[in-house]
Amino acid sequence: IKPPIFVTRRLPDPAMAILAEHCTVSWWDQVEMPIPRDELLRGVAAAEGLLCLITDRIDAEVIAAAPRLCAVSIMAVGYDNIDRAALAARGITLTNTPDVLTETTADLAWALLLAAARRVVEGHKLIERGEWGPWHPLQMVGQDIYGRVLGVVGAGRIGQAVLRRGRGFGMRLIYHNRRPNPILAAELGAEYRPLNDLLAESDAVVVTAPLTDETRGMFGSAQFALMKPASIFVNVARGPLVREDELVAALRAGRPWAAGLDVFDREPIGPDHPLLALPNVVLTPHIGSASVATRVRMATLAAENLVAVLSGRATPHIVK
Ligand code: GLV
Ligand code: GLV
Repeated sequence: IKPPIFVTRRLPDPAMAILAEHCTVSWWDQVEMPIPRDELLRGVAAAEGLLCLITDRIDAEVIAAAPRLCAVSIMAVGYDNIDRAALAARGITLTNTPDVLTETTADLAWALLLAAARRVVEGHKLIERGEWGPWHPLQMVGQDIYGRVLGVVGAGRIGQAVLRRGRGFGMRLIYHNRRPNPILAAELGAEYRPLNDLLAESDAVVVTAPLTDETRGMFGSAQFALMKPASIFVNVARGPLVREDELVAALRAGRPWAAGLDVFDREPIGPDHPLLALPNVVLTPHIGSASVATRVRMATLAAENLVAVLSGRATPHIVK
C-alpha cells in the first residue's frame, strides 16, 4: 500500500513521476503561486510525507495538523522556514537538496559580483534611456575584481565553490566560518579570518551562510563601516542575515561601494523598495539555484529523498 503524501506545488515531471510510483500523491496544482495557508493545513491532514518549498512556513501548527506525518522533504538547501524543534518533538525526519545546486548558486554569486563591480545593469539602463554620449575616460568606471581579495562568509559547499572561482580571477582568498576549516587552506589556499578582519581586508564580500539564530542580522551599520570604500557586497544566502535598512543607508553613503543581492528581508520585493532607488545595486529575485538543469535535479532529489525516508531506505540528505 502506497503511503499518502502531500506536495505543496506542482513540480517538474520527473519528480511527480517518481512520487506517483511509490506514493499516493496529493498536490497544490499550481506552478507559480504558493499554497494558501488553509489549503496547506487541509492538505497535510492525512499525509505521511510532505514535500515543500521555501515559500511554505512549516511550523508547529502545520505539524499539529498532520498527525501521521513522519517525513518532510524540502526542495532547497536552506530550511530556515521549517520549525525543526516541532519536527524533532514528533520524530519527523527532514531532508534537503544540497550539492545539486552548489555550482549553479556560486555562478549567480559571481554574476552579481561582476555586475555590481562593473556597473553592468547601470550601463544597460543608460543605453536604454538614450543617454550614451561620446566615450570619455571616466565614463562608467567601476572596480576591479581580478587580483583583489575575495572574502566569503559561510564557507560551506556554496561558499567553497565561490572561492574556487576566485582562483581563476587571480584573487587572494579568505573566509569566515563558525570555526576554521583546515581543508580550505590545503585545497584552496583560503585563509580563515575573524569576521571583522575579513570585512576590513576584502575587496569583495560574498555571503553564503545559512540563516540561523546566530546569523540573523549579522550584517549591519557596524559591519559595513569596516568595509573598504571600494568594496562590493554580495548576498545569495538569506535576506535576514542583513539589516536591510542599514545596508540601504550604507550604500547611500558609499560604503560598500556597491551590492549584488539575490535575497531580501521580505520576499518578494516590489518597485517601491528603497534598494531600487540606489544606482549602486544589482538585484535578482531569489534565483540562485535557478538553472533549468539544476531545478529539475532539485525536484528529482527532493522526490527521491521523500520516497527513501518513507520506505525506510538510507539517504545522505537527512538534516541532522
Ligand atoms: C534556496 O534558497 C535554497 O535554499 O535552496
Ligand atoms: C550549501 O550547500 C552550503 O553548505 O553552502
